[in-house]
Amino acid sequence: PTVLLIVAALSYLLGSVPFGLVITRMFGLGDLRQIGSGNIGATNVLRTGSKPAAAATLLLDAGKGGVAVLLARALVGEDAAQLAGLAAFLGHIFPIWLKFRGGKGVATYLGTLMALFWPAGIAACLTWLLIAYLFKISSVAALFTAVMVPAWLWTLGEPDMIALALALGLLVWMRHVANIHRLLEGTEPSISKKDKA
Ligand code: G3P
Repeated sequence: PTVLLIVAALSYLLGSVPFGLVITRMFGLGDLRQIGSGNIGATNVLRTGSKPAAAATLLLDAGKGGVAVLLARALVGEDAAQLAGLAAFLGHIFPIWLKFRGGKGVATYLGTLMALFWPAGIAACLTWLLIAYLFKISSVAALFTAVMVPAWLWTLGEPDMIALALALGLLVWMRHVANIHRLLEGTEPSISKKDKA
C-alpha cells in the first residue's frame, strides 16, 4: 500500500503541471486565464491564435497522463497503472499549484487511456475527431467521447476499466458545466476558422 500511495502522489504531481500555462507563457501569448474560456487546456490555447502552442499543450497534457501510467506499470504493475492514470487526471483538474483550479481533463484522459489500453485510446481519439469535425465544437467532442469510452471498453474487451472510465467521464462532464450552459444558450464558440471570420 505504501508503494501505491507513492505512485498516486507522484502521478498527481506530474498531472498537476499546467502545461497550457507554461507553454503560453513561454510563447509570450499573454495570460491564458484572461483569454476565451479562461481554461488551461489546448482548446483555449488555440484561441491565442498559435496552433503550435495548442499542439504542444495537447501533447504534453496527454503525455503526462500516459507517462504516469507507463511508469507505474513498469515499476510497480498493472494495479498501479490505473491508479496512476486516475491520480494524474485528478492532478490536472485539481492542481495544487493553481489552488486546485485546473483544467477539464480531456487531453490527460486521452493520454491516460492510450497508455492503459491503446485500442480504447485510439477509439476515443477517433470519436473526438469525428465529433469535432461534425460539430466544430471542442466541448461537444469531449462530452460525447466521455460517454463513449465505457462503451468502447466494453466492445473492445476491457471491462475491468469501465469503472475508472465512468468516474473520469463523470468528472469531465462536471468540469464542463459552463460549456454545457453555453451550448444550451447557443453561445459556445466554434473551433473552426471559418466560423471565426
Ligand atoms: O478540452 C476542453 C474542451 O472540451 C473545452 O475547452 O476552453 O472551450 O472550455 P474550452
